[in-house]
Amino acid sequence: MAIRMAASSRILSCTVTVPGARSMSSWWKSVEPAAKDPILGVTEAFLADPNPDKVNVGVGAYRDDNGKPVVLECVREAERRISGNMNMEYLPMGGSLKMVEETLKLAYGETSEFINDKRIAAVQSLSGTGACRLFADFQKRFRPDSQIYIPVPTWANHHNIWRDALVPQRTYRYYLPETRGLDFAALMDDVKNAPNGSFFLMHACAHNPTGVDPTEEQWREISNQFKVKGHFAFFDMAYQGFASGDPERDAKSIRIFLDDGHMIGIAQSYAKNMGLYGQRVGCLSVLCEDEKQAMAVKSQLQQLARPMYSNPPVHGALIVSTVLGDSDLKKLWLKEVKVMADRIIGMRAALRENLEKLGSTLSWQHVTDQIGMFCYSGLTPEQVDHMTSEYHIYMTRNGRIRYYLPDA
Ligand code: LMR
Repeated sequence: MAIRMAASSRILSCTVTVPGARSMSSWWKSVEPAAKDPILGVTEAFLADPNPDKVNVGVGAYRDDNGKPVVLECVREAERRISGNMNMEYLPMGGSLKMVEETLKLAYGETSEFINDKRIAAVQSLSGTGACRLFADFQKRFRPDSQIYIPVPTWANHHNIWRDALVPQRTYRYYLPETRGLDFAALMDDVKNAPNGSFFLMHACAHNPTGVDPTEEQWREISNQFKVKGHFAFFDMAYQGFASGDPERDAKSIRIFLDDGHMIGIAQSYAKNMGLYGQRVGCLSVLCEDEKQAMAVKSQLQQLARPMYSNPPVHGALIVSTVLGDSDLKKLWLKEVKVMADRIIGMRAALRENLEKLGSTLSWQHVTDQIGMFCYSGLTPEQVDHMTSEYHIYMTRNGRIRYYLPDA
């Protein structure tokens, strides 16, 4: 018996080597650690810092005066109404029809002819990131030779998204560090010089990270030039409502393009304007020539989604459709969006005032000129590193600060 066991354990532990086969341990030998994400990596570093006075102004997530996340009252009320009333069934591949319908109204207008004529192919997405990624994959599949023009600078993840969708990237000039404003002439030159029929990624409002947007007049000129060149505008609208406090006003760039007859695409997100960061709820829409085309495009978007995540999560969509589908809750939401936007505008003024009071001889006008959730401070990566190592203040290395000024 003992001899038999010893023999079988010897058999179990012996390794049979097939010529040319890898040893079992070497599958991932060549995998190096990934570079830290320039935005979410800041949160990781912040969490790892034991200093009690540390401050995180990195990731774009709204905070109260104590630096704590905020759940909007309209969302709390929607949750109360939903609770006990929901099942856990799958949504369709394109997500919640009700949520998508309400979301389109915000971007295209409450009484949009495009919605009425069913000319918009739209699916619920995993927030704005998911909408951008789905579009990038769609672009690659149906316009395989196209490339995407991305502004300099932009949200760091845009580069990852189109890279992973294997769409070649080009850039267009956007921000002029010397004026801390829009480099409109350079932007227009790059739009003119791009090959006809190019894809451009635009930030619909509250440009991330700079907080610098074209004026209405400049949007009109951009739209005209797009018409001349036959370019396609894909709008990332992650901050609708955060620029002016009014989602309708913040959709102006999109409305200008629609009025001019462009066939555009839009990525929408409820992360910021409804505070649904972790719910990952948003919408991708593509305006088409007619209903038939819209149905075809939607079916292809769904087919792209199916092998990635099958269908989107239900809870966030239910919150959004409950809030926007009820006139009182929608009013409350609009009020709360305005409170958040106004509070940030107030913080801009306070930051500038304090810097000036402290005797800084630099100009801080850009702090109050910029809009949206961020201040693109002008700090260099080395200065940011210094702020972090000396004062435990965490921000992205491009000098972007998310507003958070606790009351004194
Ligand atoms: C940001 O820019 O900080 C946010 O959009 C969060 C993110 O995912 O990067």
